[in-house]
Amino acid sequence: MSGALTVRRLLIDLDAPVARHWCGGDAFSTALLNALSMSFPVGEQFFIDAVRAGVEALPAEKQLHWREEIRGFIGQEATHRRIHQRFNDHLARHGLVDEWTPRVVERQKLFEGTDPRHAIAVTAATEHFTAMMGEWLLAHPDALAGAEPRLQTLWLWHSAEETEHKNAAFDLYRALDGDHAWRVRWFKRITTSFLLDVARQTVANLRRDRTLWRWSTWRSAARLLFGREGLVRSNVGPWRDYLRADFHPTQHESDRSARWLAANAGQYTPVLNAERAAG
Ligand SMILES: [Fe+2]
Ligand SMILES: [Fe+2]
Repeated sequence: MSGALTVRRLLIDLDAPVARHWCGGDAFSTALLNALSMSFPVGEQFFIDAVRAGVEALPAEKQLHWREEIRGFIGQEATHRRIHQRFNDHLARHGLVDEWTPRVVERQKLFEGTDPRHAIAVTAATEHFTAMMGEWLLAHPDALAGAEPRLQTLWLWHSAEETEHKNAAFDLYRALDGDHAWRVRWFKRITTSFLLDVARQTVANLRRDRTLWRWSTWRSAARLLFGREGLVRSNVGPWRDYLRADFHPTQHESDRSARWLAANAGQYTPVLNAERAAG
């Protein structure tokens, strides 16, 4: 299924400077999305390495099929990490410092030499978060209101592809006979570390931006996270679903990703050689 995924090259200008409060002048949503973007290059490389190692761990007769299955996933994630690195270069020029990546690099060393299913369970768990956030952003594009069209395209394209490929690591975990208890164990660990990391980096971004102690920052945080349609309140149910033994990401299927990709086909070109995109 994943092998059929299209890898897309975005036709947006990422050389032009990015405004300090690029997300509609809102300091909090800018800081939060900047924090997430900082985690993507290192996180998405980990996913790529995890699924590649997972395929190597399969019986020889299954490897060819699975190499095809994950080709599109790898191509999409490789493209995301490259594009977000270019976006992150603008953030560094704003004086923001990525403190998240060095922590992730240290943690990733713990997986060296372990059963590859651990890294794939981590990947599947994190992919559940990216799929939830992607789906939320596609359902609430007004969260990006006031951002330049090229940056709206960047975030919604990534969101669309995250929901599009959300099955890939999960299915590979199952193909490797990964069990439910470990899947849930890693999901709970990732929930804690991901939420703490994103909170720490968002606060660090706001502090360097000198907007941490503004009333408008906290008001925006309350609305974006805990409002009736907010990121946290909307995702409690989808988060809990992952704990069920019979959960599969397709149970959260919607047509938002496909609709966005169809409506914005002029914003990208399909890359025919996914392996080349993966570098
Ligand atoms: Fe991604
Ligand atoms: Fe992903």
